[in-house]
Amino acid sequence: MIESLPERPTAGTPVIRRLTPADAPAIVAIENETFTLPWHPNVFLTMLAKREALCLGYLLEGRLIGYLIADMFVDVWHIMNLAVGAGRRRRHVASDLLARYFEITERESHRGHTLEVRVSNASAIELYRSYGFVATGVRRGYYSDNREDALIMWKESDGDSA
Ligand SMILES: CC(C)(COP(=O)(O)OP(=O)(O)OC[C@H]1O[C@@H](n2cnc3c(N)ncnc32)[C@H](O)[C@@H]1OP(=O)(O)O)[C@@H](O)C(=O)NCCC(=O)NCCS
Repeated sequence: MIESLPERPTAGTPVIRRLTPADAPAIVAIENETFTLPWHPNVFLTMLAKREALCLGYLLEGRLIGYLIADMFVDVWHIMNLAVGAGRRRRHVASDLLARYFEITERESHRGHTLEVRVSNASAIELYRSYGFVATGVRRGYYSDNREDALIMWKESDGDSA
């Protein structure tokens, strides 16, 4: 699956496609510069090899600048990781990844979508809210680096097949 998106006011035509193990080094580079608790590279390799998982990358001129990793648990999609390279934010890269994610996941029956996000991560919470996620609870001390709480967010499936 290779999909072109409408051009943004940046050079080159962006592409959103499924990620493969060959993309792991580029993913890990963004991951390590982004998170205080980055995933181990092996976690990405496991997700990239998993049939049920949905791993999408946003590429500009062939270079990975953002990714979204999701997995299905029973009948619920879980967005497990979403990041955009520091110099590429606020250009709707995450929005385009989420839009493509919903387009793909709505094709098959499921109850909805969930995720955890740090309670201090206002930009991500705002992004998810703008896509219809609502806060449904808190996991106390979820993040092991500073014992920060996680906000649990939920979005019902838009489809009528679930
Ligand atoms: C959160 C993150 C993925 C957003 O990526 P992005 O490509 O910059 O987001 P978008 O440009 O698609 O933003 C879409 C909307 O989200 C909200 N948003 C995004 N960044 C924001 C910010 N810094 N402050 C306030 N709102 C913000 C806005 O409503 C924005 O719409 P607008 O630009 O039209 O106002 C990015 O900031 C990131 O990688 N952060 C570090 C990793 C992270 O926190 N991941 C989420 C873990 S759960």
